[in-house]
Amino acid sequence: MRSLFHKTIALFLVSFAVISCQDKGDPNYQYMPDMYESVGYETYGEYDVFENGQEAKLPVEGTVARGWMPYEYQNNTMDAQEAKVKLTNPMLYTEDNYNNGKQLYTIYCAVCHGDKGDGKGILVEREKILGVPSYDDAGRAITEGSVYHVMYYGLNNMGSYASQTTIEERWQIAHYVMSLKDKLEGKPEKEFVKESAKTKLLPSRADVDLYEDAGDKDSSKDNGTGLDTSDNQTEIQE
Ligand code: HEC
Repeated sequence: MRSLFHKTIALFLVSFAVISCQDKGDPNYQYMPDMYESVGYETYGEYDVFENGQEAKLPVEGTVARGWMPYEYQNNTMDAQEAKVKLTNPMLYTEDNYNNGKQLYTIYCAVCHGDKGDGKGILVEREKILGVPSYDDAGRAITEGSVYHVMYYGLNNMGSYASQTTIEERWQIAHYVMSLKDKLEGKPEKEFVKESAKTKLLPSRADVDLYEDAGDKDSSKDNGTGLDTSDNQTEIQE
C-alpha cells in the first residue's frame, strides 16, 4: 500500500516535471497532422522554386488592373510640357463634378494652396512650406492638363496624389483648380453643362457586368450564365 502511494507520487512528480518543461511558445506535437499545414505557398513566403526566392511577384508587364487606366505621360519635363498642351479634361463641367472637385481640393490641396488657390494655405502662413505658387502665376500658366500631370506625379515639394485619388477625382479637382484660376484672374465664372450619361470615365467594380460580352446580347434570354438558352431549353422557370 505504502509503495503504491510512493509510486503514485513519483509518477505525479515525473509527469509534472515533463509537462512543465514544455515551452508554450513552441507548437506542440501534432498527432496525425493531416491538412494542419497548407501545401499552398504563403503569399510573402520565401521559396527556392521562384527566381528571386519570393512568392510575391510583380504583375506581368503591361498588366492593367481593373478600374484603372495607364497614364501615358512619363514623369519628365518633356512629357509634362506635352501634357500641359495636349491633355484635356474628359469629365464634363457639371455642378456635381465641380462640387466633388471642390470638396477634394479642400481636403488635399487647400492646406498649401489656400481655399482661393492664391498659394496662401495654412501651412504657408505658418511657414511650414515655402514656394507654393498662386494658380494665376503667369510664369506657370497652368492648364487642366498640367494640373492633372502635377497631381499624378507631384512636383518637387509637392507630393503625388495618384494613390489617394482616382482618375475621375483628379479631373474633378482639375476643374475646380481651373475655376479658382479664373476667379483669381477676374474672369467670369464658367457655366455648368447639364448632366449627361457620359459623366463616368471608367466603370467601377460594381458596374462591370461580367457577362456583358459573353454569348447572347438579348438580355431577356439571359439566365445569368451568359449562355444562350434558346437552343437547349434549359431556361429556369420561377
Ligand atoms: C504640401 C503642400 C502642397 C500640397 C498639399 C499641394 N501642393 Fe501643389 N504645389 C506645392 C508646391 C510647393 C508647388 C510648387 C512646386 C515647384 O514648382 O517646385 C506646387 C505647385 C502646384 C501647381 C503648379 C504646377 C506647375 O505647373 O508649375 C499646381 C497646378 C498644383 N500645385 C496643384 C495642386 C493640387 C491640385 C493639389 C491637391 C491635389 C496640390 N497642389 C497640393 C505644394 C503643395
